[in-house]
Amino acid sequence: MSNSPEKTAPNVPKKLVVSIATFGCQMNAYDSEVAEGLLSHQGYELVPDALESEAHSRNVRVNADVFLMNTCSVREHAEDRVYGRLGMLSKYKETHPDLIIGLMGCMVEEHREKLFRRFPALDLMVGTRNIKELPELIEEVRKNRRQVAKIRHDGISIEYTDQISRKGRFHAWLPIMTGCNKVCTFCIVPITRGSEVSMPARDVYREASRLVSEGVKWITLLGQNVNSYDGNPHPTPLPEGEGVSSISLAPLAGRGQGEGKFNFPELLQMLCEIEGLEKISFTTSHPQDATPELYEVIARNPKLSRRFHLPLQSGSDRMLKRMKRLHTYAEFKEKIDRMRQMIPDVSITTDIIAGFSGETDEDHEATCRALRELRFDSGYVYKYSLRPETPAANLPDDVPMVIKEKRNNELFQIQKQIEIENLNKLVGRVVETFVEQASDWTPGKLIGRTYDEHKVVFPGDERLVGQFLRVRLDEVQNLTFLGTLREY
Ligand code: SAH
Ligand code: F3S
Repeated sequence: MSNSPEKTAPNVPKKLVVSIATFGCQMNAYDSEVAEGLLSHQGYELVPDALESEAHSRNVRVNADVFLMNTCSVREHAEDRVYGRLGMLSKYKETHPDLIIGLMGCMVEEHREKLFRRFPALDLMVGTRNIKELPELIEEVRKNRRQVAKIRHDGISIEYTDQISRKGRFHAWLPIMTGCNKVCTFCIVPITRGSEVSMPARDVYREASRLVSEGVKWITLLGQNVNSYDGNPHPTPLPEGEGVSSISLAPLAGRGQGEGKFNFPELLQMLCEIEGLEKISFTTSHPQDATPELYEVIARNPKLSRRFHLPLQSGSDRMLKRMKRLHTYAEFKEKIDRMRQMIPDVSITTDIIAGFSGETDEDHEATCRALRELRFDSGYVYKYSLRPETPAANLPDDVPMVIKEKRNNELFQIQKQIEIENLNKLVGRVVETFVEQASDWTPGKLIGRTYDEHKVVFPGDERLVGQFLRVRLDEVQNLTFLGTLREY
């Protein structure tokens, strides 16, 4: 990626090359797009992260003057990958002392300045609520060659900016809330991202409209607990002349002072009214806030994606209680049954943790039974990873790794089989599909997402990218549909 000369700010004498490696969730993907956009507007040149392919090589070559990692803390493995890279970069820096190494994301929030002591070669750390200050921090390291950190403790970590460097032309991430007020005992998110904070509905609406004015057709709303969104009850009036003038804020009319908060179903309803916005997805939901009111809004709005991610974590009530998931298996099943009844074409996906503290063979069997009974359309299975300072850090991590692996594989196989069966049931249907991109691998083939976000590959002209078309699902190969265009 390079910049036109007129965009180059005078405060960067030589065009520095920056690379950002992104780990973890979509929220991090969004934050990296913001950081890349801000840096690029300051005159930095952005290059893709080339370190991954060299991770196992002894002769690491770093393709940037500034190497940043946007980190994840959810499981130990994600942190270990960053530590491994920090080790490699530290070694490289012995012979290339000008290299600037920086961290963003949840590891910064979790470990803070301690990381400077462990990695003296690390130059800067920027918290999730301070991304805007990244260009200044890099400048400070360049000038003073000392370790610098900006990590705020409260507030919201969402930055809406038209300087964002979006990866997709037609699709955009749109964070609407961050943090989590639940206290699932295994989870580090409430520690790294703090308590729930929502963007005011007015700001979300305005940003979504701005994205649409740039050609975006599909928006994915993001939040650690997206369906407990609770917008600002008193949206402030727009300052004179600010924002995109052609945007009408009509759907907000009558929602002024004292008329109560926007909840998530209301926000969805409001966003559905944006002309030109053709599809809206959201992730991740918590079962407690998955309500019939929400299902009703989805059922009546064809713009809302039919994919619903609802983590179950375990099929055993004993484990659910120990995890503080706030529901029993029967209550979760009731929600799924109701959702399927109200949104017949819904596709439900989930997360499962294998080998949580105290999990017995019977608990594991209950999760296997749950997967067979609930027949999710997709599921991610994770081996439990003890996270320091979470409530579960006080419980023994007592399921041996070999057992965790065995249970993980068993759950994975059960889920995969169900997924294949579910996909095969859809073969023969003609479904609405968003054309995401032309295939890099096979010329003349397009890659699309169905109404419930399943991947489908079909022959077609790359000028169709960005359109919603009807595609016939012909067969299933490796959990992907092969299809044929039915209608232009
Ligand atoms: N609602 C959040 C969940 C964050 S973590 C969000 O998506 O933003 C995503 C998934 O990682 C969880 O649903 C859980 O299945 C898994 N997970 C979280 N903490 C974990 C841990 N300590 N060990 C293993 N898996 C974990
Ligand atoms: Fe984590 Fe549970 Fe919140 S999984 S993000 S504490 S809902």
